[in-house]
Amino acid sequence: MVPTYATVNLTALAHNLSCITGYLSPSCKVLAVVKANAYGHGAVTIAHTLAKQGVERFAVASLDEGIELRQAGLTAPILILGALFEEQIVDLMAHRLTPVVSDGRILPALAKAVRAHPAPYQIHLKVDTGMGRLGLSMDELPAILDAQILRSPLQIEGVMTHLADADGEDSAFTERQLGAFHAMLEQVRLRGLTLPLVHVANSAAIVRFPEAHFSLVRPGIMLYGYHTLPASVRAPALKPVLSLRTTIAQLRTIPQGGTVSYNKTFVAKRPTRIAVLPIGYADGYSRQLSNRGFVLIQGTRAPIIGLVCMDMIMVDVTDLPSVQIGETVTLIGQQGTESIGADEVAGLIGTIPYEVLCGIGSRVPRFYEST
Ligand SMILES: Cc1ncc(COP(=O)(O)O)c(C=O)c1O
Repeated sequence: MVPTYATVNLTALAHNLSCITGYLSPSCKVLAVVKANAYGHGAVTIAHTLAKQGVERFAVASLDEGIELRQAGLTAPILILGALFEEQIVDLMAHRLTPVVSDGRILPALAKAVRAHPAPYQIHLKVDTGMGRLGLSMDELPAILDAQILRSPLQIEGVMTHLADADGEDSAFTERQLGAFHAMLEQVRLRGLTLPLVHVANSAAIVRFPEAHFSLVRPGIMLYGYHTLPASVRAPALKPVLSLRTTIAQLRTIPQGGTVSYNKTFVAKRPTRIAVLPIGYADGYSRQLSNRGFVLIQGTRAPIIGLVCMDMIMVDVTDLPSVQIGETVTLIGQQGTESIGADEVAGLIGTIPYEVLCGIGSRVPRFYEST
């Protein structure tokens, strides 16, 4: 018996994928972002499921994430979005992973390593158009595009940029980034280079900026059922994929004036029946939810009382007299007609659903269901 677990609904994942493709022209394909263990959902199963649903390309952040997918039998192209270090090149190539080159200084080492490789080795170039993170600057680009090193055996398969503010209220910054990206594409065109893959759009840009779709889009959060679009934008009808559940481990009543958890931050104003739940911040349930969060028991919200511990939380079930040890508790997901989304949890602690989802700890098993 596993008291604390996440369920991952693959039918909801398929629904979200079809919402995404609904925004795209037939020539534009999905590069599914499955980094950070597919935003906490389990990268191996998510990637295999999406591959069966027609997704042909995947992106992860790190070399290790790419190797994990290869070792799990994923044969599709896998792009490593994060920084590449010289020491990683041998493993990168051994697992046929596609690097994103964000800094020209890696190119000589890549080209040297590729010499032993039988076929042309494909890379993507990333340009920084305003994210201020990884990427070649527009000034560096001409020299890189002219470099003989990028003709053979290295081959530029794709070029990309990342949008900093696609979910911002104002679209002006994104439009400036897209303008800079077009200027970069012009540099490519002037050199007679043809790049099969051009990709820019994250989830928010898929919805808001059709002009950012190009040949591939890179959705992450929307696949998992959430978005961070401003209220002024008509949002897609996504379905959250992950539910987080636990089981009541103990029930007890403390007297008026009794305290709960470390540092006595909760003092009972009445005799209080508390349920002890075996989940804590080590499972990714943030300590900032102390005296602030809610769970669902019998389809009703029960408040978290006291500080969230490493492995346990306590909730007030005084108003739910029939609850029993062993009952299922929902921390994220639906129970009866009530639901708590990762976005609601995020809102309570001043973060975004991304952080809530990918923070779910490795000791929480993920169970997959199709409904
Ligand atoms: C380079 C890159 N592309 C795409 C994505 C996916 O973004 P989102 O989850 O907002 O769709 C990310 C995620 O942070 C990213 O870093």
